[in-house]
Amino acid sequence: MKGFVDEMRAVAMKLHTKDQAREGEKESVDPPIAAWNPSVDGYLKFLVDSKVVFDTLESIVTTALHPSYGGFKNTGLERSEQLSKDLEWFKEEGYSIPEPSKPGIVYSSYLQQLAENDPPAFICHFYNIYFAHSAGGRIIGSKVAEKVLNKKELEFYKWEGSLSQLLQSVRIKLNHVSSGWSREEKNHCLEETEKSFVYSEDIIRLILS
Ligand code: HEM
Repeated sequence: MKGFVDEMRAVAMKLHTKDQAREGEKESVDPPIAAWNPSVDGYLKFLVDSKVVFDTLESIVTTALHPSYGGFKNTGLERSEQLSKDLEWFKEEGYSIPEPSKPGIVYSSYLQQLAENDPPAFICHFYNIYFAHSAGGRIIGSKVAEKVLNKKELEFYKWEGSLSQLLQSVRIKLNHVSSGWSREEKNHCLEETEKSFVYSEDIIRLILS
């Protein structure tokens, strides 16, 4: 039987552009990743702002700001520590690490506010951020590494154990949590997907800044 995560995934896939994913339905505005001309400085801005977002998600879940978030502690998908190690590596390589910028700060405060007031919407972002990173995020990482990092594999793109198993157990938890929601709450969660794309795309765009 299909669970609610299948509905979340279907909505997310349609919001991809045709060149991002096979199931994408939107026309692309930005150039495809293969044609990107990234810089290490732009990529560092992206990593710093991504860390702001993951720090926020992980502290919300760790403190179980709402009881329904408690099950998402230590899923193995957490990225904050890995990003700290990566930023440390860049520092050792002589790069200066930028301060967090607007896209990460704005998204982080939006997430904090949703987490307190609107669990179904918060869970939508939680799903999209971690699952996007495991799919498109890795594509971005390998393209950028190939172009400007001499193929260096960052910790951000490494998971302990099997990533597909980690994702699968989070899918089960998401289905479980959402099984307590009314149809209205489920629809509200699905409707939030578009915002998740807008906020995340603003952070991704830093790579090209
Ligand atoms: C899945 C690409 C941005 C959310 C995927 C997949 C690809 C992809 C190739 C796998 C499709 C499949 O299973 O066959 C990309 C690229 C992006 C991008 C190239 C940007 C350059 C985003 C953004 C979000 C997002 C901004 C939301 C914030 C998701 C989700 C899935 C997905 C939720 C489903 C993952 C799963 O079922 O395991 N993406 N994506 N993606 N993407 Fe993206």
